[in-house]
Amino acid sequence: MTNSKQRIDELTKSLQEYNYQYYVMDNSLVSDFEFDTLLKELQALEEKFPEFASENSPTKRVGGDVTKKFEQVIHRYPMLSLSNSYSKEEIIDFETRIKKLTNDDIEYVCELKYDGVAIGIQYIDGKFYQAVTRGDGTKGENVSTNVKTIKSIPLKLRGDYPQDFEIRGEIFFPLKNFERLNKTRFENDEPLYANPRNTASGTLKSLDSSIAAERGLDCFLYGIYGENIEIDNHFDLVKKAGEWGFKIPKEETKYIKKTSNIDGILDFIDFWDVERKNLPFEIDGVVIKVNSYDNQNRLGYTAKSPRWAISYKFKTERVSTLLEKVTYQVGRTGAITPVANLTPVQLGGTTVKRASLHNADIIEKLEVREGDTVFVEKGGEIIPKIISVDIDKRPSDSKPFHYITNCPDCGSLLQRQEGEANHYCVNDTGCPVQITGRIQHYISRKAMNIDGLGTETIEVLFEQGLIKNPADLYELTFDQLIPIERMAEKSVNNMLAGIEASKQIPFEKVLFALGIRFVGDTVAKKLARHFVSIEAIMNADFETLIEVDEIGDRIAQSLIEYFGIHENVEMINRLKSHGLQFELAHNEDATDKLKGLVFVVSGVFDKFSRDELKKSIEDNGGKVSSSISGKTNYLVAGDNMGPAKLKKAEKLDVKIISETDFIALIG
Ligand code: IVH
Repeated sequence: MTNSKQRIDELTKSLQEYNYQYYVMDNSLVSDFEFDTLLKELQALEEKFPEFASENSPTKRVGGDVTKKFEQVIHRYPMLSLSNSYSKEEIIDFETRIKKLTNDDIEYVCELKYDGVAIGIQYIDGKFYQAVTRGDGTKGENVSTNVKTIKSIPLKLRGDYPQDFEIRGEIFFPLKNFERLNKTRFENDEPLYANPRNTASGTLKSLDSSIAAERGLDCFLYGIYGENIEIDNHFDLVKKAGEWGFKIPKEETKYIKKTSNIDGILDFIDFWDVERKNLPFEIDGVVIKVNSYDNQNRLGYTAKSPRWAISYKFKTERVSTLLEKVTYQVGRTGAITPVANLTPVQLGGTTVKRASLHNADIIEKLEVREGDTVFVEKGGEIIPKIISVDIDKRPSDSKPFHYITNCPDCGSLLQRQEGEANHYCVNDTGCPVQITGRIQHYISRKAMNIDGLGTETIEVLFEQGLIKNPADLYELTFDQLIPIERMAEKSVNNMLAGIEASKQIPFEKVLFALGIRFVGDTVAKKLARHFVSIEAIMNADFETLIEVDEIGDRIAQSLIEYFGIHENVEMINRLKSHGLQFELAHNEDATDKLKGLVFVVSGVFDKFSRDELKKSIEDNGGKVSSSISGKTNYLVAGDNMGPAKLKKAEKLDVKIISETDFIALIG
């Protein structure tokens, strides 16, 4: 018993240290594999002896705690906002005013204005106590279960921290993780999220904390509130918070700067107005704060904001254009996406013709109508979005907008599940766009990659009544295809050869190609490796499915639903009878020599193609990552490798090996 307690404490401590080093200091002390093994050991022990588990155990990071409703909490220190400015004149006025009011040599701290969600986190005796959203500034919601999954936020502090204090900061969605989320959503035919900030906010309010854990939010801290704090200025206190284990902006990255004059402030603004495009997260401006707390107190507050700080917001390029028509796209799972068709307009160097309207709620909120002149911005610098309507330009005969009630393709009544933003066409077996969409997904490059068959041909074959699902492809004959318009003998033969060749495509790709909701290519790979055959997946119940690494409730549910539909099972049986791979091929070369090691591959090689090299890493139990981080063990360097990768590898002390070294490694 005591041994178990000791071991739990020991594991908790080391894992906390590894997390801190990795997520705050960008320093990897152990391999992924080692970390996961220790975490699993701790999880198992905590399950057996819950009484010994620390409330802030690193196992909380993986999420899983489900909240019914977030509790309301009154802020000990009201959460104010900043007064905004949009011109340098206003900043110059601010600085002049400050100088006059304080009659002092003033120091300013310039910071980034992170575009995320404000959070206040209280620590008592060095332990995470609770995290509360801004709410209305007076009271917010206790979202601790979600905030605890953010790995850069310490659950236990180090050093000489105050006994009871609150630290405030901004939770944001790193762009890489946001893009990864949207990529998966795209593959699953789910509506895309419009921007990282709103998605961060939504994620923070999800009741199931495993969603936050999976998405990978991050947080910068920018303010400390408490009694008996000895440090007398903002800059030093933030730095001190870094010593307690928080992720704070560092001077070396230029995210924070101290200056004592207006030129220093204006330089900071100009620098970040350009450089913000290269940041791995979004900012919407910069914040200027008076450094000394004495001076801050002297300057005081207005009802809403401090007089000692101001934000400068960057201008986002905005244009106006005509919304000609709203059309609707039907995805392969039946999700409906409304699209704004615009009179083409130049924005940020590209021509914008269309913008997503996302769903009926957004249209209603914008109060937009066809024929309106609308303002368009590049949201998140990626997808153009409609910001508002120029009401003055609304034509006198304009009519209120009505969202469609029936599928634009098959005419069946659309459904909208409670709590879901999107309408769905549920006629999945009869709606032509869904049927062709599923087959188009099946043949796509990332799935079965069938040569000689394109998306348009699928539409033609469907219209001719020749195919209704992927299994039908394998029953097509030369005689059926040759009479079709524009099908020459050569193209028919190519197509049939492509279809025949697809019978050799490995199981994991076939599984992805089936287009099961939430089963993207990575999940398909995981499932295939774990279960080895389709039968094993079909026979697995909910509990067995969620035991697999990275398979959550949503995916498990979706698999059970998919295999519960008779037509799907029948189609799989037909595919099987045509010789498709529904079992993981036994790989004679497979070993676990590289187990627990993470590789990045870059450049051109002699004996392998890049894909072959990656496959060989995976076959030998290693992991391939696309970018170098503290977790990378080896960079396999070929010819013409990018200098940036090399520099990063050197900086992070990642071992750089050649193709020959790699071959030696796998023997
Ligand atoms: S200081 C008294 N510093 O901007 C206000 N805020 O309108 C103290 N924000 O709610 C805020 N980056 O969510 C501060 N470096 C930064 C910030 C920042 C982003 C957000 C914060 C706040 C809003 C102010």
